[in-house]
Amino acid sequence: MTMLEAGSMGAGEGLEPTATLLYNDWYPALRSEKLRGRKMATAMLLGSPLVLGRKRDGSLFAMRDNCPHRGMPLSCGWFDGSTVTCKYHGWSFEPESGQCMEIPSLTRQDTFPARIYANAFPCRESDGYAWVYLPKPGSGRVHMEARAGLAPAPGIPKFSDHFRSAHIEAELPLNIDHGIIGLMDPAHGPFVHQAWWWRSRHSIHEKEKHFEPIPQGFRMSAHAPSANSAPYKLLGIYGQPIETTIDFILPNRRYELIRCGSKWFSSLTTVTPTNANSCRIDVAAAWNILHGAPLVTATVKFFGRRFLRQDQVTMIQQAEGLKFNPSLMLIDDADRPAKWYFALKRARLESEETGRPMVHPMDGPVTLHWRS
Ligand code: FES
Ligand SMILES: [Fe+2]
Repeated sequence: MTMLEAGSMGAGEGLEPTATLLYNDWYPALRSEKLRGRKMATAMLLGSPLVLGRKRDGSLFAMRDNCPHRGMPLSCGWFDGSTVTCKYHGWSFEPESGQCMEIPSLTRQDTFPARIYANAFPCRESDGYAWVYLPKPGSGRVHMEARAGLAPAPGIPKFSDHFRSAHIEAELPLNIDHGIIGLMDPAHGPFVHQAWWWRSRHSIHEKEKHFEPIPQGFRMSAHAPSANSAPYKLLGIYGQPIETTIDFILPNRRYELIRCGSKWFSSLTTVTPTNANSCRIDVAAAWNILHGAPLVTATVKFFGRRFLRQDQVTMIQQAEGLKFNPSLMLIDDADRPAKWYFALKRARLESEETGRPMVHPMDGPVTLHWRS
């Protein structure tokens, strides 16, 4: 049974005013549709300024937005489809590897310094996002040969050839830990997301959910969704059992899959640290339900935006309170997923530090109870 185990979140829980950032992983930098022709775009990821673009062959690149010569933002320079040229002294770079190709001030007597590189990061396109792989600062650049060995950039799992998709985003003025635990918090729903089409606080009832460890995260095992929520009611028109699974995977990904026979709705939500004290939530979804019906995408986006806006407004208000660095608590069972997140994060940081395999903090399936 549920035991009320309120504890303060001091150093032990890891929820510090500034969250530790996880490197050596993929993060969505921006929508890849912004990268067209010779246009470069900038983004901020984990406190690093980036410049991104699309080469003539269609592949994406991401570099730190600082020239290695004297720090000029490379985004102030020029991109001709294959080479990025710095505005200050005209050094030019192959943007995928970051290799410096030309230093105009050198004379014929000078030998070209072969080992000058701008800081370039692996960058891939997936579900309309430019994903950037950020290695731990100071660990050197990710060599071109090593890039093939990286895990593929994340994407929305899809279960048929034809589907629709949509994406929405919101800036959150909180550090990554607050953003993530907000993402997995079941108890705020009836208060923050009150709406006639969703639910009210009077619909709070006891829930029992089963969780299991998965690599780098945990899964809310397949279950019949809450009968009082509108999206699920909508799926009910297919008259088949509805099943939903939610995965959280480090560093910042929440996958939700709803299946009803051959119909599915699948989403990938990420909370990405832009810098130490702010993050951005991106929700990308794909589905094959109501495929022929008009205005489905607009409707999904409309309700999705409203939903996300409710979270955003709440977190803007929360950030006002957090300015004063209050002591905080995590309570069982509703905040247990948040505790797992902190434990997973600690385990991963420890593994990266020691070079030993990551020890998963959960040793088997767990059943949680809460009211929401
Ligand atoms: S600062 Fe970029 S070439 Fe000098
Ligand atoms: Fe929410």
